[in-house]
Amino acid sequence: MPHVEESTPSTTQIIRPALSLMGSLRLPGDKSISHRYALLAALAEGTSHFTNFSTGADCASSLGCAQALGATVERDGSTVTVTGCGGDFQASAQPLDCGNSGSTMRMLCGLLAAQKETYTLVGDASLSRRPMERVRKPLAAMGAGIQLTEGHAPVVVQGSRLKAIDYETPIPSAQVKTAVLFAGLQAEGTTTLREAVRTRDHGELALQAFGAQLHRGLGFVSIEGGQKLKALDAVVPGDLSSAAFFLCAAALFPDSSLVFDALGLNPTRATLLDVLGALGARTSVLDLEEKSGELIGTVQIQAPKEGLGSTVVSGALAAQLIDELPVLAAIGPYTRGGIRIRDARELRVKESDRIALVVRNLRAMGAQVEEFEDGLDVPGAQHLHGAVIESGGDHRIAMAFSIAALKAEGDTEIRGAEAAAISFPEFFNLLDQVAVRA
Ligand code: S3P
Repeated sequence: MPHVEESTPSTTQIIRPALSLMGSLRLPGDKSISHRYALLAALAEGTSHFTNFSTGADCASSLGCAQALGATVERDGSTVTVTGCGGDFQASAQPLDCGNSGSTMRMLCGLLAAQKETYTLVGDASLSRRPMERVRKPLAAMGAGIQLTEGHAPVVVQGSRLKAIDYETPIPSAQVKTAVLFAGLQAEGTTTLREAVRTRDHGELALQAFGAQLHRGLGFVSIEGGQKLKALDAVVPGDLSSAAFFLCAAALFPDSSLVFDALGLNPTRATLLDVLGALGARTSVLDLEEKSGELIGTVQIQAPKEGLGSTVVSGALAAQLIDELPVLAAIGPYTRGGIRIRDARELRVKESDRIALVVRNLRAMGAQVEEFEDGLDVPGAQHLHGAVIESGGDHRIAMAFSIAALKAEGDTEIRGAEAAAISFPEFFNLLDQVAVRA
């Protein structure tokens, strides 16, 4: 059945320039972790409780699919309770709607590959353009029947008895890694996933938190099939990729003082702090603790008096910073020496072609920028003016250019601003709260 696109009215946000950012923020739960908790809780036996669960529409898609598969989901704001199916999902009369969420679709493929039923997974127009072959290939090698539509959604997953594989992923992708591990959990034998670039390890940590045994080594992770998951009570750390917008904003203004409480600081996600450090900003981490395997702490940032320097993001760094690259590029013109991004071809197959949209929107604000197939060069020491920005329905583009707008001359109109709600519905309100204006 074709997915019926719900037409969301396009909303515009006006962003006025700011003088600095001040205050303390406690951010909604990490999107990557919330997805994994929702999906694993749906498979587990018993009732899981999560606090500070992501408020974004993407994670609501995961919860919606969990419910369609037979899990009981109760939600009160960011508190979520999921009673799982104890290993066996029910058939779903309707296609599973993954909305805008690539994480939901790819990770669900792994989870469903070993089930008894056949499922159809659909998404919105953007998700229906994104590549799914990357999960089909390993799951098919395990014995699952996965049919794509010209490489894309709708995806039909015909569950089957799976056999373990030893798979080296050609694309650095935590979604692919997690999909293979979710299938491996239910396969016969021990599945090993190898990755040349270390991607975020929330899938591994979540599986362990739900009671699965994993063997983790340098560049690989193995999981034995046939393990049962037990329900989990957990707090979701604040989302560092959401904090990234505020961190980059604060780094632009020497008078800023921003503190983030209970922020997720998993080392596979915290590369932005190193990059901001390399650009001259000072970040300090306090009160570090571990919860359900994830590191959580308080982060404080101070901007350099002389302005941000310059940096190059390439190789493994590009994969580790993939969600933060749009905002880093968007503040590039305000650095002294510019920002160069390479080896980031994956940006072209995100919720939008993020390289093309960043280039187009930077130029709309009057910036010089050079586009490459796998990245872009943003020279520094530029002055931008307010402009009309097109989000292209992409949450991270809407938010990245709201940050660029803070230091531009004149007001900026963010069209399609509602996209921010995909990961961070509170974004514009929080920005207004902490932005100090004349
Ligand atoms: C994610 C992994 C990344 C990232 C996405 C979330 C995850 O995607 O861009 O926002 O939760 O595993 P890829 O796996 O495609 O790199």
